[in-house]
Amino acid sequence: MAPRITVIGTGYLGATHAAAMAELGFEVLGLDVVPEKIELLSRARVPMYEPGLEELLARHVAGIEGASGRLRFTTSYAEAAEFGDIHFVCVNTPQKRGEYACDMSYVDSAIESLAPLLTRPALVVGKSTVPVGSAARIAARIAELAPAGEDAELAWNPEFLREGFAVQDTLHPDRIVAGVCSDRAERLLREVYAAPIAEGSPFVITDFPTAELVKTSANSFLATKISFINAMAEVCEAADGDVMKLAEAIGHDERIGKKFLRAGIGFGGGCLPKDIRAFMARAGELGADQALTFLREVDSINMRQRGQMVGLTREAVGGALLGKRIAVLGATFKPDSDDVRDSPALNVAGQLHLQGAQVTVYDPKGMDNARAIFPTLAYAPTALEAVRGADVVLHLTEWREFRELDPAVLGEAVTERHILDGRNALDPVLWRKEGWTFRALGRPTA
Ligand code: UDX
Repeated sequence: MAPRITVIGTGYLGATHAAAMAELGFEVLGLDVVPEKIELLSRARVPMYEPGLEELLARHVAGIEGASGRLRFTTSYAEAAEFGDIHFVCVNTPQKRGEYACDMSYVDSAIESLAPLLTRPALVVGKSTVPVGSAARIAARIAELAPAGEDAELAWNPEFLREGFAVQDTLHPDRIVAGVCSDRAERLLREVYAAPIAEGSPFVITDFPTAELVKTSANSFLATKISFINAMAEVCEAADGDVMKLAEAIGHDERIGKKFLRAGIGFGGGCLPKDIRAFMARAGELGADQALTFLREVDSINMRQRGQMVGLTREAVGGALLGKRIAVLGATFKPDSDDVRDSPALNVAGQLHLQGAQVTVYDPKGMDNARAIFPTLAYAPTALEAVRGADVVLHLTEWREFRELDPAVLGEAVTERHILDGRNALDPVLWRKEGWTFRALGRPTA
């Protein structure tokens, strides 16, 4: 019989993983300690915007008309332990307050709650992003707590999903990494991922520390790539170069590649910033801090981009921000998401506001989340309303909707036709044709 699966922690990662497992044909029980989340999910709803996720839930959540019924939710660990052969741990591991290190309290409490209830053979599979060394510690804790003894074991299977592509990345991963200690664990994970493996997803077996490190090093590499091109943007600013052309040209070298070379106001979100900081903190604990000091530079290049954008804006309005009307297009950390965690766009909007400008923000999906974090900014219901009367317009998140804006129509609404592209995603020719001054980060003359 196919193994029965539980997913512990039904946030972004867990909700998507649970729905994907049901889609792959498994009986799935999702668990969360927050009853409101369970109540929403039981109606096939999620508290965030993620394309395709609610549709996938609706295909499987028990009680929804026409659904397979393979996916149910609970708040009871006893029910999860009784039900599952494989327990995926998907709780979040945020940055600790006031520190770089990662807060493991949700993972730890999931294990402390589940392990003492494991009375029959079970594989606990960690998916959360954790500091290297955590899996070994958790495995030892499971061995101490689980009544099933050696029949309850741990595997580590990091998740690489991107927001906005969570469903696709989970159903069709570009690789599956499994840190395992036994053949049984490997066999069970091969069974779970049989469909993507058959489609050609590479299945990489490792030990625990390597599996944990794959995740943090992948995110560090991506962050480094973005900060590299942003450092080149800074040099282009100084030397009158064009960072977009430069990225295109170096990207033709297959060893470098074109992706993740878009210069702009930098990376944000719930993963990259906190993951590179937690990685530095962990390397310090291990006595390998020197190996990762470059990540401090990656982080500061990234944070500097936000300041550069504020500087460009100040220049565009004649040197002083006080009382200037600024329209900000975009609040989320990237398009196709409603996530504003550590969003460069919102950070820039906030800085401008604190320096005395009147900032009006519009974002296609991130308005409620943005308002909750920055209630003092003004918010407009459309891009056109946001730019009304503006002295300068800032493009800070590259939503498709913004590329489709008509510069002629917007031009009628603004006070001054100044646009600053913080994401290098707009076409300068189109805007200039309608009489706008166009300026983008890293392209002073383009
Ligand atoms: C990331 C990783 O991609 C994913 O594999 C991991 O599991 C979780 O972290 P995500 O947080 O969804 O996913 O965002 P991603 O698409 O990687 O973008 C991160 C940030 O980098 C965004 O703010 C984006 O705007 C920025 N970015 C991306 C750039 O500034 N330039 C680029 O060229 C690419």
